[in-house]
Amino acid sequence: MTPRKHREPGDAEPAKKSSITAADPCTIVIFGASGDLSRRKLVPALYGLAAQNCLARRFAIIGFARTPMSDEAFQASAVDSVKKFADASTLRDEECKEFANALAYVAGEYHRPEAFEKLKSRLEELDRAHKLEGNRLFYLATPPEVYPVIIDQLDKAGLAKSPNGKSWVRIIIEKPYGRDLDSAKKLNQTVLNVFSEKQVYRIDHYLGKDTVQNLMVLRFGNGIFEPLWNRNFVDHVQITAAETLGVEQRAAFYETAGATRDMIQSHVLQLTSLVAMEPPAAFDATAVRNEKIKVLQSIRPFTEESIRTDVVRGQYGPGGGRGDSSLLNGYRKEPGVAKDSSTETYVAARLQIDNWRWAGVPFYLRTGKRLPSRVSEIAIHFRSAPHMVFRGQGLAGNTLVLNVQPDEGISISFHAKLPGQEMKLKPVAMDFSYQKEFGAGERSAYATLINDCMRGDATLFDRADGVESAWALVNPILDWFESHKPKFPNYAAGTWGPEEADKLLERDGRHWRKP
Ligand code: BG6
Repeated sequence: MTPRKHREPGDAEPAKKSSITAADPCTIVIFGASGDLSRRKLVPALYGLAAQNCLARRFAIIGFARTPMSDEAFQASAVDSVKKFADASTLRDEECKEFANALAYVAGEYHRPEAFEKLKSRLEELDRAHKLEGNRLFYLATPPEVYPVIIDQLDKAGLAKSPNGKSWVRIIIEKPYGRDLDSAKKLNQTVLNVFSEKQVYRIDHYLGKDTVQNLMVLRFGNGIFEPLWNRNFVDHVQITAAETLGVEQRAAFYETAGATRDMIQSHVLQLTSLVAMEPPAAFDATAVRNEKIKVLQSIRPFTEESIRTDVVRGQYGPGGGRGDSSLLNGYRKEPGVAKDSSTETYVAARLQIDNWRWAGVPFYLRTGKRLPSRVSEIAIHFRSAPHMVFRGQGLAGNTLVLNVQPDEGISISFHAKLPGQEMKLKPVAMDFSYQKEFGAGERSAYATLINDCMRGDATLFDRADGVESAWALVNPILDWFESHKPKFPNYAAGTWGPEEADKLLERDGRHWRKP
């Protein structure tokens, strides 16, 4: 290990090689610090940033939650979660210790003004001790019903404003951002009564994934794809977010959400708007978000009739698992789930985007739990050749697949001639793999997004009108689900979803990819 200079607690080393740049000195306050999100994702992501010197030269982190805990106990639990969940290549004992030194804890009820007074004095004390310049980042990682309470208390304690008129104060708000259009509008009002839109970062962690950002680079950083990216060349688009996991220990949340709220309204529609958007004038928050929101607003609204024909919901029943002999439980047997639950764990939908670029090109979306593999991908299916010179070969169109996870990369399929005398053709693929090219594994999307927020870059976060547009689109589906009882379960755990989902594409003469 190289000799080090003495540093103050929370005072990171001068920049090492890293792909993300350091932010201003600041204090990060995590509300819900004893929860799962904080333990599994946020604390390890913050450690990762600190270990790469991307946090700031000086920083402090305050955990805030109801559970009484000392600073030392919070530090110990943070080190534990770093060891379990941070990228192993960044783990170094000394850095773990230094990171832990920058952590403090405030216990308090979210509705009690005195808890926020305690938080305020802790913030002031850390500001003074580590010269943090009054920059503050609040991260709401609590259950969503507490968001308005925290926002109100931050306002009352005077914490939503810059303490010195020069520093920045920002707030990251986790999904779910509301549970329907009305509640999302109400939450926007609550938030925007206290914070200005510029201070607000509505997070969707999918946007922090490298391959999701790479979609914009593929489209707008290269000259060869964009001319083909439209109704003249694209037959249809398939967007899949498939998980092998079931509902795990999250029934309390999932029972009130379901796949449409949990995945379609957020992650899957984010991917859709990135695929379908027009080139932005610049890669900045205003231009990119304007274009994405225009896509959401161009999607043909769902009606009773189109929901019946173009939306399929499902719930997994018991199934054979993934190659092992143990039978996986059906959703209704998962801990905390109602025996007659009508919560959907699978949704497939067919969207029409009514604009010049995409008119007549269906976008098929699907997401589900307990599917055969964990894969998120976007597949652009191009039209086949207009005239088939190679008769009798039944050639399908080319497909460009963006693998969002787990094998991050891009692959394009085309036809090649098999060696030999005969003119026989075979589909082959040209593959680009992140892992092979850059040696990079799946990076923490949270690290990227927290760093962006600390640098004041909101490009990869949602705007108030963005979340509302996404809710406006799914709201009729949610209402319809609510008022029409499903016949569940309708797919076995470990399979690719209900038969009706296959029919959705077969009806159009197409079929789902089996990634
Ligand atoms: C979360 C959903 O937002 O995304 C989960 O609430 C889902 O239900 C998760 O499992 C998927 O994210 P990732 O990054 O693991 O694909």
